[in-house]
Amino acid sequence: MNFSCLLLGFLTCTFCVTSLHAKAYSESPTFTIDRNYDTFVKDGQPFRYISGSIHYSRVPSMYWEDRLQKMYMAGLNAIQVYIPWNFHELSPGKYNFDGDADLVQFLNLAQKKGLLVVLRPGPYICAEWDLGGLPAWLLKNTSIALRSSDEAYLEAVDTWMGVLLPKIQPLLYQNGGPIITVQVENEYGSFPACDYTYLKHLYQLFREYLGPDVVLFSTDGAGTGYLKCGTLEGIYATVDFGPGTNVTKAFQAQRAYEPSGPLVNSEFYTGWLDHWGMKHQVTSITAITKTLDELLKIGANVNMYMFEGGTNFGFWNGANGGGDKFNPQPTSYDYNAPLSEAGDPTEKYYAIRDVISRHSSIPVGNDTGPSPKYGYGTIQMSPQTTFYDVLDTLSPYGPINTTYPITMEQMQQYSGFMLYQTAIPFNVTSPLFLSSTAIRDRAYIMINKVPQGILTRIDNHNMSINATTEGDILDIFVESQGHLNYGPDLADPKGIFGNVTLNGTVLTNWSIYSLDFDRVMPLLLKKRTKYPYINKQKVKDDAPFQVPSFYVGTLPDLAVINPPQDTFLRTTGWTKGQAYINGFNLGRYWPMKGPQVTLYVPASILHASPKINKLLLFELEGAPCSPEQLCTIEFIDRPIINGTVHQKDFIGGKWSNF
Ligand SMILES: *[C@@H]1O[C@H](CO)[C@@H](O)[C@H](O)[C@H]1NC(C)=O
Ligand SMILES: *[C@@H]1O[C@H](CO)[C@@H](O)[C@H](O)[C@H]1NC(C)=O
Ligand SMILES: *[C@@H]1O[C@H](CO)[C@@H](O)[C@H](O)[C@H]1NC(C)=O
Ligand SMILES: *[C@@H]1O[C@H](CO)[C@@H](O)[C@H](O)[C@H]1NC(C)=O
Ligand SMILES: *[C@@H]1O[C@H](CO)[C@@H](O)[C@H](O)[C@H]1NC(C)=O
Ligand SMILES: *[C@@H]1O[C@H](CO)[C@@H](O)[C@H](O)[C@H]1NC(C)=O
Ligand SMILES: *[C@@H]1O[C@H](CO)[C@@H](O)[C@H](O)[C@H]1NC(C)=O
Ligand SMILES: *[C@@H]1O[C@H](CO)[C@@H](O)[C@H](O)[C@H]1NC(C)=O
Ligand SMILES: *[C@@H]1O[C@H](CO)[C@@H](O)[C@H](O)[C@H]1NC(C)=O
Ligand SMILES: *[C@@H]1O[C@H](CO)[C@@H](O)[C@H](O)[C@H]1NC(C)=O
Ligand SMILES: *[C@@H]1O[C@H](CO)[C@@H](O)[C@H](O)[C@H]1NC(C)=O
Repeated sequence: MNFSCLLLGFLTCTFCVTSLHAKAYSESPTFTIDRNYDTFVKDGQPFRYISGSIHYSRVPSMYWEDRLQKMYMAGLNAIQVYIPWNFHELSPGKYNFDGDADLVQFLNLAQKKGLLVVLRPGPYICAEWDLGGLPAWLLKNTSIALRSSDEAYLEAVDTWMGVLLPKIQPLLYQNGGPIITVQVENEYGSFPACDYTYLKHLYQLFREYLGPDVVLFSTDGAGTGYLKCGTLEGIYATVDFGPGTNVTKAFQAQRAYEPSGPLVNSEFYTGWLDHWGMKHQVTSITAITKTLDELLKIGANVNMYMFEGGTNFGFWNGANGGGDKFNPQPTSYDYNAPLSEAGDPTEKYYAIRDVISRHSSIPVGNDTGPSPKYGYGTIQMSPQTTFYDVLDTLSPYGPINTTYPITMEQMQQYSGFMLYQTAIPFNVTSPLFLSSTAIRDRAYIMINKVPQGILTRIDNHNMSINATTEGDILDIFVESQGHLNYGPDLADPKGIFGNVTLNGTVLTNWSIYSLDFDRVMPLLLKKRTKYPYINKQKVKDDAPFQVPSFYVGTLPDLAVINPPQDTFLRTTGWTKGQAYINGFNLGRYWPMKGPQVTLYVPASILHASPKINKLLLFELEGAPCSPEQLCTIEFIDRPIINGTVHQKDFIGGKWSNF
């Protein structure tokens, strides 16, 4: 019995009614669907969730509690969480559940903050995440059929779920944890396979590990065409749609499959995703508040996707496209969400909180407000080495030799860069055409270490090179820009996916180097004097790019900023590459493409004074420096993710034709 309840009076205190029941049911918490009253029922009481999406894989673990607190203070009673399989099973049977991958810790924190959890364990999640969360090692088997009842695929799914679901089971609401519902697959109705055997298999697998009581659900676009292949008897069908949608009509689609039960919009879009080379997406606040208000007015359950977007650190971004299109996503996953990439409440946050307060009580307490930011200023970057100088360190086991190129996945590497090397098999005087439609996704071509040009997956399949002598070394340095995360052509192997020809002759006898950047970058910082400096000779104006190279700089030791604060690395002037601070992979930068110009640098990766902080850039194409001009880069106190965008590439001092 709650004492304040008696003081306030029983009838006017709905909260206390709930807590009375919670008390009565506390021995065995329940969460079910009531089809007579079209609602969820929690511990015997009608329940409606107002939820927001947050992906623990996109927020440093040190900030999980801060972000969850802000979500709670906005009036949310639940969060929605995707589990990216590839973030946890790095190679078959090799698991990571520590640090930023400590999923159980994250879910426990949510519960501690008073938030229930709508869980989306996949196996496929989309999420603008590399391969939609599926591990790229699945692609080593070239005949695998992802997201279907394919034997090899299901075997890997079963093994993974056998590890994951036993961790989830004790965290179900019925078992005293925060998880109220669990999604099966994700928007499966948008995938052409339409394989009910697969869905049935997942259903049985989830039931086997999670028991008969948990509410399983599916999510599909709000049209009966999407729901058709996305749901199954026993899995509660929900829909997703954004602001400006006709709510009545959207829920008619859900009703076509669920004539009774709660109305649920599992993804109400507060913003939208970005792509390199395309304008930054902004969703209007008034459109959001209007539709959100309608949803809450009719008693619908709603999850806001995203509430906190976060960052695609490292190589974790996905890509959209397929066929003759390929649009990778940038490092920022700000999503124009109510909490910014750095976790700060925006105008949208307060507007949403106002709408929620009209329908549900908002916790009392102080606003957490934005966290402090600091501009550490301009620092000097010293050219360090080219990738050639450290090839032995990047590829400690040396190359694998094959007759024809094999993919990154066949080399058992799942992201980043790979070097393909062969000798030119003949003498020629005239220009040759190097061609391949098999580049995944962007390749830097060098002959005897001299840059020749860039080949890409979509736009540029052949180029002229001046090979002269038999035995000249051809290097193809390939970047994976992230696996497709959506669409029918999901299987998207990287590296070189077929043959490379020189005037029609198929090139053979390749030496292929796996390159382990994430392991080596911290080593490079420590050992830098061991390596020769990059030749500082001015790059020829007509060179298509500079050999991919490392640059290092030290942040100022500002004892006044102790502990360190969040900052933003402004990459303007640099071309394209990867940035690391203290060995942490901040992600890709490509200001010459836009719209993202700054990279978010969370304070959690910075060392407090007097320890020093080191920035390492791996610049693929061209640094803004010469013998006459020092290389610099700047840390500023605010993000710029809506910069100018360019469809074309800036190569060798001019805009390319592709
Ligand atoms: C590759 O996948 C196919 C289709 O599931 C399967 O028949 C085959 O056994 C798999 N190969 C390997 C080496 O696992
Ligand atoms: C919304 O959809 C419903 C059902 O299809 C329809 O009756 C109604 O006129 C629509 N409202 C608007 C504003 O278009
Ligand atoms: C809110 O902030 C004020 C002023 O900083 C402080 O006095 C008060 O204790 C805070 N209240 C809570 C609930 O934290
Ligand atoms: C691989 O090929 C390179 C270049 O032809 C050669 O030097 C090396 O010995 C080969 N390695 C093996 C293991 O065959
Ligand atoms: C290619 O040229 C080199 C010297 O220019 C010569 O030694 C070699 O025999 C030539 N190879 C062929 C196949 O003609
Ligand atoms: C290669 O092809 C190009 C374009 O067709 C041609 O100009 C060149 O002469 C060819 N080179 C050789 C060595 O065949
Ligand atoms: C190849 O040689 C031609 C003729 O000398 C020259 O115009 C062209 O720039 C050269 N290309 C490269 C990539 O060096
Ligand atoms: C080069 O690529 C273009 C466009 O993909 C194509 O039209 C052309 O035929 C190619 N040339 C050669 C020599 O492969
Ligand atoms: C590469 O070329 C060889 C020899 O022409 C051919 O047998 C093989 O099928 C080709 N591979 C691909 C993936 O096209
Ligand atoms: C490729 O390597 C094999 C085995 O070492 C050799 O017999 C063959 O001549 C090589 N082919 C070319 C084009 O260099
Ligand atoms: C970019 O975003 C900032 C911050 O929201 C805004 O002030 C600025 O006007 C925007 N710039 C452009 C070009 O949209």
